[in-house]
Amino acid sequence: MGLAYNPAVRKIAPSLLSADFGILRDEIASVTAGGADLLHLDVMDGHFVPNLTFGPFIVKAIRRLTELPLDCHLMIRDPLAYGPRFAEAGADLVTFHVEVDQDPDRVIDAIEAKGAKAGLVVKPKTDIARVRPWLGRCAMVLVMSVEPGFAGQRFLPEALPKVRWLREEGGFGGEIEMDGGIVPETAAAAWAAGATVLVAGTAVFGERDRAGAIAALRRGA
Ligand code: DX5
Ligand code: ZN
Repeated sequence: MGLAYNPAVRKIAPSLLSADFGILRDEIASVTAGGADLLHLDVMDGHFVPNLTFGPFIVKAIRRLTELPLDCHLMIRDPLAYGPRFAEAGADLVTFHVEVDQDPDRVIDAIEAKGAKAGLVVKPKTDIARVRPWLGRCAMVLVMSVEPGFAGQRFLPEALPKVRWLREEGGFGGEIEMDGGIVPETAAAAWAAGATVLVAGTAVFGERDRAGAIAALRRGA
């Protein structure tokens, strides 16, 4: 799915959390035509975060609607049990939080055994150095730029040095994704720090011109 690090390519991953699920097929078609590189799927369990979204059943339905890579962001307490089920449902990439109380090696093994790539996510208050032991096994590291749980929050600039840390101190060669509060202005800062994939909910689905919104994020302002 082309997830090797290529700094020349700025990838945009619209988050379906801000899409209208009543017309999901049209929403996906509009961002696909508009140039989206991946689809970001926010999975919440009501425990790890105080919000609840959808499970593998919906991911399987989305899989049938698109050929874009599916980037599943698991904000759940038990990625060991459920991570493989999202991979089976058709996720290309499954990311889970380093803050959960499970062994990342076992979770990565379980996800990879079902044919998906794996990655780790850090919340805004988490020390980025916590992911260091598993960097060699991550196709992607997701640096949260808002507290996970809800779309439409303001970007936290303290996330930017974590992106630089991953490249410089971590020596990380995979994709670096930022998620939360991405608009053209914050996108520019994220690209400059070294991010290669930006997630956007409100900034894409809140605009009627999806191609224009995606282009503006890719450009940065
Ligand atoms: C928040 C989710 C994000 C969210 C981003 O928990 O991980 O993916 O949908 O939404 P915006 O782009 O509106 O901040
Ligand atoms: Zn997300």
